[in-house]
Amino acid sequence: STNASWGGRFTEATDEFVAQFTASVDFDRRMYKHDIQGSVAHATMLGKVGVLTQNEVDQIIKGLAEVQADIEAGNFEWSVALEDVHMNIEAALTAKIGIVGKKLHTGRSRNDQVATDIRLYLRDEIDFILTEISRLQKGLADQALKYNDVVMPGFTHLQTAQPVSFGHHLLAWLEMLKRDYSRFVDCRARMNQLPLGAAALAGTTYPIDRDLTASLLGFDKPTANSLDSVSDRDFAIEFSAASAIMMMHMSRMSEELVLWASAQFDFIDLPDRFCTGSSIMPQKKNPDVPELVRGKSGRVFGHLMSLLTLMKSQPLAYNKDNQEDKEPIFDTIDTVQGCLRAFADMVPHITPKQDVMRTAALKGYSTATDLADYLVKKGIAFRDAHEIVGESVAYGLKTKKDLSEMSLEELQQFSDQITDDVFEVLTLDGSIAARDHFGGTAPNQVKKAAQTALDNLK
Ligand code: ARG
Repeated sequence: STNASWGGRFTEATDEFVAQFTASVDFDRRMYKHDIQGSVAHATMLGKVGVLTQNEVDQIIKGLAEVQADIEAGNFEWSVALEDVHMNIEAALTAKIGIVGKKLHTGRSRNDQVATDIRLYLRDEIDFILTEISRLQKGLADQALKYNDVVMPGFTHLQTAQPVSFGHHLLAWLEMLKRDYSRFVDCRARMNQLPLGAAALAGTTYPIDRDLTASLLGFDKPTANSLDSVSDRDFAIEFSAASAIMMMHMSRMSEELVLWASAQFDFIDLPDRFCTGSSIMPQKKNPDVPELVRGKSGRVFGHLMSLLTLMKSQPLAYNKDNQEDKEPIFDTIDTVQGCLRAFADMVPHITPKQDVMRTAALKGYSTATDLADYLVKKGIAFRDAHEIVGESVAYGLKTKKDLSEMSLEELQQFSDQITDDVFEVLTLDGSIAARDHFGGTAPNQVKKAAQTALDNLK
């Protein structure tokens, strides 16, 4: 025969380039452990239902353990001629235990095998991603707790808007990550069903017990339709979508860190070990980590589009197109895990430059809304108060004074309702402390929110 696995009906060997072109072993060998895990469960089930003898099952399991040990010791020769991880492992098993190895594939197809392997593989990687998100969240919550009363300018349109607590800003990032976390949890729950048993597409004639295989592999239940089982890659798309959304968030965080680390903002200090210098400009310290995370969001977005496009016109059931799912999934995993690791390592060591932030918050009339609210509380309608404060700001721009730097007499030009107590609301600390409700930027609210986040992370 021309090929060990399917050569029976062929009269000539595969074209050498075609063999290379259609092979996936160079990348799908990453799933070797999960392929073996799936095979062990499949063989165990075949033994329980009497398709294999217990002795055969024992030989298969022992043989697969040896194959795994060989792979992990670097004593395994991956063969492109054997196309993919599945056939490489099966061939190695047969080389070890002989004819019994050839029985492993009874009642199974590579179509349901690969669908199972990716799910097992992705499930583990999602679990790691979840712990890394939590680690990053913990860093943010710790920092927020520590810097709950550090004042910085809050922006809209990147123009000074109102003062906020630096801790509050970090907790905004934490909220984004909370939603990301739950998207990965959802995706994991939906994909946690066993495709094995679907065989090529129609199911199998053997008396298989799919519930048993599902429980051996930690799946909630077997998938309900054999055609769908081998052709569904929704879980990969969902994983990519969750990853893309999280990378969009991390890119926004990165953008802010890059801005804050610039000489013009100068809001934070990033530890040297997360930055690099320039080969020509001796003064440079570049925020490479956030820049790269921002840049890497692009490839993850691209993988989502690749997978959607890969699936969009496929007729049922399995098509070779599906082999193209792996590289986008793997690269998404690598990218997301790398970015999370870099951020989780770096965030606890970001230091706010509190004086610079405070000085910046004093520019741009960040307490103008506070003055308007003050006038409303004195009985003036909000629109009129808005107008009065607008005039005060215009005066400040002309005289180069912040509202808090004006004398009482100067302020009273614009409204006789303004009295001595106005200066409490015009300070930065007064301004943030006044937003004292659930979700607001008052330091004691930030403290509470950070503490709640830390409790939930335990
Ligand atoms: N390497 C293939 C993949 O990644 C495995 C399934 C192949 N099945 C087939 N009938 N050619 O999808």
